[in-house]
Amino acid sequence: MKIFRTRDELQKFALAARRSGKTIALVPTMGFLHEGHLSLIDLARAKADVVIVSIFVNPTQFAPTEDFDSYPRDFDRDAGLCGLHHADVIFAPAPGEMYAPDASTWVEETRLSGPLCGASRPTFFRGVTTVVAKLFLLAQPDYAIFGEKDAQQLLVIKRMVRDLDFPVEIIAAPLVRDPDGLALSSRNRYLSEDERRRALAIHQALLAAKAALVQQPSAPGAAEDLAKAAIAAAGGKVDYVSALDRDTLAPLTSESQWVLLAAAAWFGTTRLIDNEMFELKNR
Ligand code: PAF
Repeated sequence: MKIFRTRDELQKFALAARRSGKTIALVPTMGFLHEGHLSLIDLARAKADVVIVSIFVNPTQFAPTEDFDSYPRDFDRDAGLCGLHHADVIFAPAPGEMYAPDASTWVEETRLSGPLCGASRPTFFRGVTTVVAKLFLLAQPDYAIFGEKDAQQLLVIKRMVRDLDFPVEIIAAPLVRDPDGLALSSRNRYLSEDERRRALAIHQALLAAKAALVQQPSAPGAAEDLAKAAIAAAGGKVDYVSALDRDTLAPLTSESQWVLLAAAAWFGTTRLIDNEMFELKNR
C-alpha cells in the first residue's frame, strides 16, 4: 500500500493508472476509521482496480467554534485498517498541502445545502464540496463512495457532480450502526458512557417518528415533534428533526413518496446526526 502526502504524487499516480486502463474508486474520509468507513472501502474494493482512501481532516468545513483541533486522529491505526481492507493508496496530506495560504476559490452548492445541517453549519457544505472537488481532480476516480449517514452531504455531492460534469459515479453506502442502534461516527468517541447511553434516544426517536409518519403521512410536524420530545427527554439538545423529500429536501407534500427523516442533536458537547430514509406507501 502506498502512502502519498502530496497532491502531485497522487495526481501523477492516478493519471498513470487511468492511462493504463485501470478503474479507480475513491473513499474520502477524515480518518479515525470505524466500521462504517471500512464498509465504504470494501465497496470500493469490489468496484474498481485501484482503491484510494483519503484521510484528511478538512479545515474548511469546520467553523472557528467547532472541533477541528480536537477531531480524533490516529493515522497509524487508520493505515493498518486500510491495509487490512486492501486499499492500494492512502492520501494523507497536511492542511498546508491541500490549501494555499491565499486560496480564494470555493465550490459551492446553493440549494440542497440550505436546510438541516446547512442551517446550523452555514459554511460546512461549502468546505465539503470544495475539498471533494479537489480530491476528485487529484484522484481521478471512476467511482466515489459516500455513506448514507451523511444523507444531506451525499445529495449535495451528487448535485455538484451533476452540475459540474465530474466524470465520476457516486455510490451510496448504507448507514452502519452499533448493535444497540447508535449510528457509527468518529465523534462517538467524545461521548461519556452516560451520554452514549442517552444518545441512543436519537435512533429510537427517529423510529417512533417514522412509524407515526407512515401512519399519518399528512402530519409530518407531529412526527417531528414526537422525536424532538423523545430526544429532549433523554437529555439531548435538539438541533433539528425534520422530515423532508428525500431527493429534493423540500417540505413533504401529499405527492411525496420518499422521505428523509433526519435529526441532529447535542449530547454534552457532541453533536450527532442520524436519519431514516423510507417510502410512504399507497400514495
Ligand atoms: O464525510 C466526511 O468525512 C467528510 O465530510 C468528507 C466527505 C471526507 C470531506 O471532508
